[in-house]
Amino acid sequence: MLEMMVAELNNNEHRHCNLMPTDNSNRTVQQLADRETSSDVEQVIIGRTKEKQKILSILSESITEEMVILPIYGIGGIGKTTLAQLVFNDPKFQDYTRVWVYVSQEFNLNKIGNSIITQLTDKISNIPTKQMLHKRLKELFDGKSILIVLDDLWEENPKELDKMKVMLGLGLGSKVIIVTTRDGGLARKFCSPAVAPYKLETLTVNECWTIIKQKADFEDRIDQEQLEHIGREIATKCGGVALAAQSLGYMLNGMRSDEWESVRDSHIWNLSTSVGHEVLASLQLSYSHMSAWLKLCFSYCAIFRKGQTIAKYDLIHQWIALGFVEQSRIFDSMQLCENYVTQLLGMSFLQYSKIPWVSYNTRRQIYYILHDA
Ligand SMILES: Nc1ncnc2c1ncn2[C@@H]1O[C@H](COP(=O)(O)OP(=O)(O)O)[C@@H](O)[C@H]1O
Ligand SMILES: [Mg+2]
Repeated sequence: MLEMMVAELNNNEHRHCNLMPTDNSNRTVQQLADRETSSDVEQVIIGRTKEKQKILSILSESITEEMVILPIYGIGGIGKTTLAQLVFNDPKFQDYTRVWVYVSQEFNLNKIGNSIITQLTDKISNIPTKQMLHKRLKELFDGKSILIVLDDLWEENPKELDKMKVMLGLGLGSKVIIVTTRDGGLARKFCSPAVAPYKLETLTVNECWTIIKQKADFEDRIDQEQLEHIGREIATKCGGVALAAQSLGYMLNGMRSDEWESVRDSHIWNLSTSVGHEVLASLQLSYSHMSAWLKLCFSYCAIFRKGQTIAKYDLIHQWIALGFVEQSRIFDSMQLCENYVTQLLGMSFLQYSKIPWVSYNTRRQIYYILHDA
């Protein structure tokens, strides 16, 4: 997402988007601090109940097989990972051994195998050879009922996919594999023969509006009547994509009604007409409203790989060392950086790591970048 945004920004009115702070921000330090109170990083999920039930029923019909693979596919930011999490955490799977693997564009079977072993043993695994990896996985899989989510699969090479199937199919026991991917073709190829891949549809305008209201603290506003129709029009522009609604809602929080109107009427919506352009436009809008300092800190995140897990305080120290943090008499650099992180999380530009195990002190210190739309 970040690469795409920077590329788009460079092509458009933000041609001069360079890495030095400019003074185009109308947000003060105090405004930034005010936003900190709404650090609702654990997001409330709107809708998707039927979708979750459908997936659970597809799975329960096929669970007699040794291994069932069900891909969920759909455009970026629509909520595939979120839906997979809902299924992952459902009580139906409470007796299962559960493993969550973030696959990403860099497909590496060895890494996937080691990630599974690490989660099953609670010890970091770095087994170098395929033979040893398979031996260990077989031992660990034997006799268990296992649910594995392979989140964000891009690999199309059928040979690699077959090798992964072999690896996942090791050992005796029942296995449920849920895969999330954007690619319908890949979903069909990787799916178990007995099931059809699940296409996740966009959210309704109403659902997008509910997300926006929630992120914008709409219920606390006294000008609700004025905002309602503008907000609904903005919700229409989200193209049913949750990520767009999340980031727009966060941006609209605290804005006056005329500012809501200018978001609705922004020329950014017309910059492209390609499929999914609404998402990119929403993210560009959010980006354009960031303070110059926050833009700088966010742009710096381009040095990380898509989906890379980042230790929060490492990132903060890098921002400070590079002079990317504004000077303030009220807040120290750490407080400002905490606030930057809160804002990037609020806009879904950063997300909490979904990796259930970590080698750091606390899980709360870890984030990963979402370059996903
Ligand atoms: N139904 C929903 N209600 C509220 N927020 C959602 C919903 N679905 C997804 N989100 C949020 O939208 C963002 C993108 O969702 P995600 O599941 O990562 O999309 P995908 O995996 O399809 O790219 C995340 O911040 C997520 O929390
Ligand atoms: Mg995802």
